[in-house]
Amino acid sequence: MKVVTTLEELWEARQALPNPLGFVPTMGYLHDGHLSLVRCAKRDNASVAVSIFVNPTQFGPNEDLESYPRDLARDLAMLEAEGVDLVWTPTAEVMYPPGSQTWVEVEKITKVLEGARRPGHFRGVTTVVAKLFNGVQPQRAYFGQKDAQQARVIQRMAQDLTYPIEIVVCPIRREPDGLAMSSRNTYLNPAERQAATVLYRALSAAKAAFQAGERDANALRKIMEDTINAEPLARLQYVSCADPDTLEEIHGKAEKALLSMAVYVGKTRLIDNMLLGTGKETF
Ligand code: PAF
Repeated sequence: MKVVTTLEELWEARQALPNPLGFVPTMGYLHDGHLSLVRCAKRDNASVAVSIFVNPTQFGPNEDLESYPRDLARDLAMLEAEGVDLVWTPTAEVMYPPGSQTWVEVEKITKVLEGARRPGHFRGVTTVVAKLFNGVQPQRAYFGQKDAQQARVIQRMAQDLTYPIEIVVCPIRREPDGLAMSSRNTYLNPAERQAATVLYRALSAAKAAFQAGERDANALRKIMEDTINAEPLARLQYVSCADPDTLEEIHGKAEKALLSMAVYVGKTRLIDNMLLGTGKETF
């Protein structure tokens, strides 16, 4: 497994790798969710590249950039064990050369859900992912359904900028009790960790109602809200029952929907989602 930092090193290493190349962009502190993306990439491609970069431009001023968990040695050992061919660990100076003033911005679908609560977040994500794509030149790139809006935004960007890259979205990986895997789960103390299952419980309650015939979007949102509000350590930021394509909130009947939410458990902000009525687990 080759580990590179500069663009020159990356270009040289990339040239030596057989196509198709599958690419998994990450911010490190890898867990089984990331490894499932790597395994999908290995299954579909002749070679696999992973990037590890905690991208400062996608964090808001009051978010956890400084405290975001990092452990490069552990990440590299995990990727080596998965048989990854190339790992790119750029510095901030490589990704944002001094004097940088160019951004990639997807307009409409970044304004709702996470984008409405985290201004500038998706501008940071799309800018860095465009640069990562430019550097790695993959044929396929892998994203998790856990960050559902991010996956939709990247699909939109890849189409709009005519990247010749297939965007593959892989299912959410969950702990045995339902909690969606996330690097931020490490912030939770034992009581909070237990309470954090409330997101999956809320989604599952709404799914059960949907399966029993409930189609009213308000009713589905209310079921999720009530479940979250019954958990003393949880504080709801939003619940949504949205169109899975446009991500616009549904008012009236939901024949297919993306249920999603953001919930504070203690000081930790967690997100989760579930697709209903599409016949698929992912976008
Ligand atoms: O999902 C993530 O870890 C990040 O948003 C990504 C796609 C690596 C961009 O920094």
